[in-house]
Amino acid sequence: MRTAICPGSFDPVTLGHLDIIKRTARLFDKVVVLVVINTAKTPSFSAEERAEMLRTVTKDLPNVSVDVYDGLLVNYVKQHENSVIVKGLRAMTDFEYEFQMALMNRQMLGTTDTLFLTTSAEYLYLSSSAVKQIASFGGDFSRFVPAEIHDKIRDRLCK
Ligand code: PNS
Repeated sequence: MRTAICPGSFDPVTLGHLDIIKRTARLFDKVVVLVVINTAKTPSFSAEERAEMLRTVTKDLPNVSVDVYDGLLVNYVKQHENSVIVKGLRAMTDFEYEFQMALMNRQMLGTTDTLFLTTSAEYLYLSSSAVKQIASFGGDFSRFVPAEIHDKIRDRLCK
């Protein structure tokens, strides 16, 4: 059984993330969406809150589960046999960062492979930080996030 691990900050999950998760779920037997701590970012939601939002929006995807991990991604991968990392790629700006990550992870654990799915065109511009900026200024971000988590984001971020 092949498992895909989709790691990220998901602070919060956007429709762009959900699109990648759904497409990955069609390609693999099992998908673990993994909330991982990115030390370069200060999150607006706790890791458990982010995981809870992910559980809400993936509840109808039977082969998708959500987990939280505070450590090196390769150590999580090592614990899951037959697993690969799957990430979404938007523009060239993502590519440089993700390419470095994938190579670093492979340096640390030689058996780690990272597969990239290109984003769907309608989500090319979308990011969690853009959603947070719009929300914090009271703008309409409903087109960018799953409806079930809209109010939670608004209540946390709208000033
Ligand atoms: O959604 P993001 O913030 O782009 O995801 C980045 C993330 C969380 C996948 C990455 O920062 C990560 O893997 N963090 C865990 C720590 C780790 O393994 N770092 C490796 C550095 S090469």
